[in-house]
Amino acid sequence: MKTIVILTGAGISAESGIQTFRDSNGLWEGHDWRQVASPEGWAADQAMVLKFYNLRRAAIRDAQPNAGHLALVELEKYFQVFIITQNIDDLHERAGSRNILHLHGEIRKARSTSNPKLVYDLGDKDIEMGDLCEEGSQLRPHIVWFGEDVPLIHTAAGLCYDADLIAVVGTSMVVYPAAGLVNYAKKGTKLFMVDPNKPEYSFSRPVEYILEPASTGVPKLVGRLKEFV
Ligand code: APR
Repeated sequence: MKTIVILTGAGISAESGIQTFRDSNGLWEGHDWRQVASPEGWAADQAMVLKFYNLRRAAIRDAQPNAGHLALVELEKYFQVFIITQNIDDLHERAGSRNILHLHGEIRKARSTSNPKLVYDLGDKDIEMGDLCEEGSQLRPHIVWFGEDVPLIHTAAGLCYDADLIAVVGTSMVVYPAAGLVNYAKKGTKLFMVDPNKPEYSFSRPVEYILEPASTGVPKLVGRLKEFV
């Protein structure tokens, strides 16, 4: 079986009603990213940051996978599929995909502020001020903020190196190190991209573009990928 890596970003969840970052003037649900997605923002106002992610968790709970998430599941009949997502939602899981690596963390998990190895399943629960890890430190969202390490990047790079085919769906390719992952692909690995807007990113190899939203573009992508079984 050939191996496919699907690299997804906020665009794949846009039609599920989850706002992308850069399509909204750099404001994320009305907030500057520095306030809600950086260690400095956390240091300045922990209660506000927790509330922001509690609201997002509730919105994601109420969202449903769309035709883009659902179409990817069929690929598993024909390929070994790895989804590397920058999204913190669980819509790939709920669609039924199996191998999902969350590069930027997961909204439904919390972690200790003192010991990053202590990660807890929250489900749909909020994190409140005073919720502590077993070592007595405040819990925070299990999310990679700007300026923080991306612990899964090496695993993701290895998956890209081993891939026979790579498809990029709904990401502006401006946030590193995620945007650099395609460069780990071996020469000759075929690259595809689904996005209604062609990103400014310059790929170092030929790319086949499907310039459509995920709900129609991903089913087309899946049809095209099946030609390589
Ligand atoms: N279908 C597919 N793609 C879409 C759709 C859609 N319906 N609507 C918008 N897009 C595309 C946009 O054209 C854009 O290229 O999705 C992309 C969204 O880009 P960003 O908002 O920059 O999201 P992303 O690339 O995932 O951001 C990367 O930055 O906000 C931080 O850490 C956060 O993981 C995130 C990272």
